[in-house]
Amino acid sequence: MGKTLESIIHDVVRQVLYETNQNISKKQWLNRSKPLVVANWKMNMTLEKAKDIFVQLKSAPYTHSYVVICPPFPLLYPMNDYCNELDIILGAQNVHEEAKGAHTGEVHVELLHELGCQFVLIGHSERRKSGETNDQINKKIKQVIGQDLIPILCVGETKEERDFGRTKNIISNQIESALKDIPKEKNHFVIAYEPVWAIGTGESASPFEAQEIHKHIRELLIQDRSYFLANQIPILYGGSVNEKNIKDLYSMEDIDGVLVGGASLKSSSFEAIITGLQ
Ligand code: PGA
Repeated sequence: MGKTLESIIHDVVRQVLYETNQNISKKQWLNRSKPLVVANWKMNMTLEKAKDIFVQLKSAPYTHSYVVICPPFPLLYPMNDYCNELDIILGAQNVHEEAKGAHTGEVHVELLHELGCQFVLIGHSERRKSGETNDQINKKIKQVIGQDLIPILCVGETKEERDFGRTKNIISNQIESALKDIPKEKNHFVIAYEPVWAIGTGESASPFEAQEIHKHIRELLIQDRSYFLANQIPILYGGSVNEKNIKDLYSMEDIDGVLVGGASLKSSSFEAIITGLQ
């Protein structure tokens, strides 16, 4: 059903208030005007090592890019202050698909918000491999968007699927089910194309291979929403990104930034990647 004039005005006023609220003005980050680099620390790091990384990152140039770090859950609280000091954005690696309840060992999105997270990785292939379903991924995205945080939806094909020429098909299905029933005006999200065979293997997709899939993703988004909206959504590449391949990857038209695992665990390589995006 179409929206009433009243609800459109209501949405516009909400948006304007939202943009002018200095506490959350960082939402303006979410467009393609600057590259977005996201560190996924996975199940690595200790509190002491994490502090060291922040100390060493102090000289990195951040004005030309948006830098997000996703530490393990227990490090979110202590890392928040460090992030603010360096103008780094805090993100989480996962969230539960329900708002709260008896789910031992899980974390709800309101808590992530309270701890200062702005982004949440959703549907990483390492989680899909351990049983996370498309339905859960869709619910998680709704939770994250509902709390005004930004989901980074991870999609990607396995080596076998690639060898059978099914890459675009797999990506289309993953995106379609993840975005099911999400209103078009909820356009604050990121997609990360992460070929499973490239994660942690040292074998990155070539810039042209990655661009072909990113273009496919952009076309899907155009079909799903509009040319204008689709062109505001950052599409990241992830999978063995390092200081050597960063420039070539980022030179591609539809690669708006990167999701970095292994190379984000050392300040020297992570800093080189940030610098490479200049
Ligand atoms: P990688 O991991 O950079 O170590 O390949 C990327 C990811 O899993 O997000």
